[in-house]
Amino acid sequence: MPNAEDIASELRDLEALAQREWSGANPAERLGLKSRYLGKKSPLNAILRGLKDLPDAERRTIGGLANETRDRLTALFEAAESSRASVAATPYDYTLPGRPHPRGHGHILSQTMDEVIAIFYGMGFEVAEGPEIETDYYNFAALNFPPDHPARDMQDTFFLNDEHLLRTHTSPVQIRVMESQRPPVRILAPGRVYRNEAINARSYCVFHQVEGLYVDSDVSFADLKGVLVAFASEYFGPLVTLRFRPSFFPFTEPSTEVDISCLLCRGRGCSLCKHEGWLEILGAGMVHPAVFAAVDYDVNVFSGYAFGMGIERIAMLKHGIDDIRLFYENDLRFLRQF
Ligand code: DAH
Repeated sequence: MPNAEDIASELRDLEALAQREWSGANPAERLGLKSRYLGKKSPLNAILRGLKDLPDAERRTIGGLANETRDRLTALFEAAESSRASVAATPYDYTLPGRPHPRGHGHILSQTMDEVIAIFYGMGFEVAEGPEIETDYYNFAALNFPPDHPARDMQDTFFLNDEHLLRTHTSPVQIRVMESQRPPVRILAPGRVYRNEAINARSYCVFHQVEGLYVDSDVSFADLKGVLVAFASEYFGPLVTLRFRPSFFPFTEPSTEVDISCLLCRGRGCSLCKHEGWLEILGAGMVHPAVFAAVDYDVNVFSGYAFGMGIERIAMLKHGIDDIRLFYENDLRFLRQF
């Protein structure tokens, strides 16, 4: 005849053991614990079945204890089960080390664009945008390219139909902005442009430009020089010097192309600068009166400067990238370097 004291102590031991095992088990092992402690063949079940052999008084106390033990163990196992309903389907091993997720970052062209914008933003320029599908009027006519003028050949154009084309530069944003607001205007227009050129290491059918425009009542070429020198020393470093060469653009007069002293040889001549000592970085000039006329700005009151630079070009110079096509191949071995 089993002794009630012994059974009570067996119940306490069982419960303590179950709790210890539970807290030390991994999820897969926990699945087995429930049937081991509460199933038909469990010691607890044997005790419950043996109750009928006990004298009345003991049956009541032991029965009560055994039921309480069963209830507590059931609660322990079920609470964990319901909080991890999917454990049965996929028993995870929470002790495995995590899988690292690779961290992405902005494309080198986005990074360059952001850097350029940040520098000019600090000088008071606001960002403006325009469409990539443009009309002949905004891309050419309003920028003082006369019809059939050979200047249009400077930019081999993808025409979509008689009226529409893929913009060949970001300069049309100048017109759109000036049409919609009065001076003072100080904007920066970054964006994608398209040219129907032979593809090679130096030119691609798609690339990016940043356009700048400042119009106010008393803007001079010296102001233009000031912002470009400030930009160049910020982006390329304080040691670069700038060289302004006379040039031609239909929408500026006078016009200039601007070079920086070669980043590699500092002007002595090397293969990067083709022994010139200088690298071209942008076009610029004073806004042409015909452009002001197109947007109805009074040329006797207002003056302004404009500039435009290729983002790929300055990124290539700064980082020593020798083929423009690398930007568009999405080869991670290239992209990860920046
Ligand atoms: N739009 C010209 C190009 O794509 C670059 C340029 C030159 C922009 C002079 C300007 C400028 O704003 O003043 O070749």
